[in-house]
Amino acid sequence: MRPLTIESLNPALLKVEYAVRGELAIKAEQYRVKLLDKDPGLPFDRVISSNIGNPQQKGLDQPPITFVRQVAALMEWPALADIAPDAFPKDVIARAKELYAEIGSIGAYSHSQGVPYIRKNVAKFIEDRDGYLADPNHIFLTGGASVGVSLLINMLISSPTSGILIPIPQYPLYTATLAQHNGVPIPYYLDEAQGWGTSVEEIEVALDKAHQQNVVPKALVIINPGNPTGALLDEATQIKLVHLCEKYSLVLLADEVYQSNLHKPDQYPFTSFKKIVRKIDSHVPLVSFHSISKGVSGECGRRGGYFECVNISEPVIALMYKMVSVGLCPPLSGQIGVDSMVRPPNPGEESYELWKQETDTTHQALASRTHTMAERLNSLPGVSCVDSPGALYLYPQIILSQKAQEVARAAGKEPDAFYALALLDATGICVVPGSGFGQKKGEWHYRLTCLCPGVDEYVGKLENFHKSFVEKYGL
Ligand SMILES: Cc1ncc(COP(=O)(O)O)c(C=O)c1O
Repeated sequence: MRPLTIESLNPALLKVEYAVRGELAIKAEQYRVKLLDKDPGLPFDRVISSNIGNPQQKGLDQPPITFVRQVAALMEWPALADIAPDAFPKDVIARAKELYAEIGSIGAYSHSQGVPYIRKNVAKFIEDRDGYLADPNHIFLTGGASVGVSLLINMLISSPTSGILIPIPQYPLYTATLAQHNGVPIPYYLDEAQGWGTSVEEIEVALDKAHQQNVVPKALVIINPGNPTGALLDEATQIKLVHLCEKYSLVLLADEVYQSNLHKPDQYPFTSFKKIVRKIDSHVPLVSFHSISKGVSGECGRRGGYFECVNISEPVIALMYKMVSVGLCPPLSGQIGVDSMVRPPNPGEESYELWKQETDTTHQALASRTHTMAERLNSLPGVSCVDSPGALYLYPQIILSQKAQEVARAAGKEPDAFYALALLDATGICVVPGSGFGQKKGEWHYRLTCLCPGVDEYVGKLENFHKSFVEKYGL
């Protein structure tokens, strides 16, 4: 019998790269295990996971929202409402009963597109947010936004010359999924000097290059608020981007999973692309993604999200339906999480006060941490950092000296990966090097999340490390 080897498998999989869980994260995991030893011999006593936007991860301090977990608990075990009625607010019991009447046991498969009643609630949420109608039949509940993105990329890559415009820096889900489906990434650069702004002209440059290389652009990915940049688009730019999609017949893939992570909402509000498309009466095909993993919900492990299709024809929706039905249905626990995200308690209901207090605390903690971290990073020699108005991250640029670059290359590492590994080895802080998200040639960055408690201690370690790195390698 022939052994199963890598060479005998789908070669597309070998091209897949996903830095968020790459070399740094693996080494951090090894350190975490080592720290369990009596005498680990490490210069730190804990690993700080600043590499992934996973708000409820052990060691971080974003607690789950009580209302969300209470509804989930009653859906897991409906008898609890009778066994411990005093443990649950009345609106939670009513909500769970209402959901149970629609869904029944969460141990059963649901409609492949997601529970119709929950899709109706998602449509209502979108209508209230945007002021335009939403059709529950054009909404697909998913096991996280990633599943939806993957489906759309799979559908859009119709030949090996099909390409998709992706921002650089980008969230590596896009390049990884494109590699998997043999699609061509068409990178367009975000402008760091303009707070990581998106420019139509820059996208047109990328389109020109793609045409010269006989790549056929099929879609434009916009991540708003951005990951890893945290940047937010203004409406004027969004309108220009929709017109650009009209001009080049592009499907607009709007990744809006951070729509409620806004640190300065008065100055930088979020506007959905659905609202823009309707407002200017555009016929651009739009698919927008949302998730329970981010925002104040942070329920990454439950795997819940949705996408809404706008200006997409019924035969295409039917094909999407066929494809999702192969996977039977999204997880019911995730679907229930989506329902709680789009229908939080209303003022006057028993759960409202606690919900408000919990969500305000999370928003404030994230906003103040982001600002403090940006300020302190900016005061370090050779570091500049856009103080991001949204999402969960900062993406500082670091100047790495010729000497540091040479030592890194001699060790077989990209210079920013070398820096990030040295940071992990010295402090236990795990970040992701910019090479995992993309950056201009000759520039170096890293992404760190703003989810870690104890900013003073944590940023203090970062500062000390950076100063000693600069002392050793120069600027
Ligand atoms: C921009 C962006 N899109 C999508 C996702 C995937 O989210 P989900 O957990 O819903 O699959 C992430 C996760 O970090 C993200 O940052």
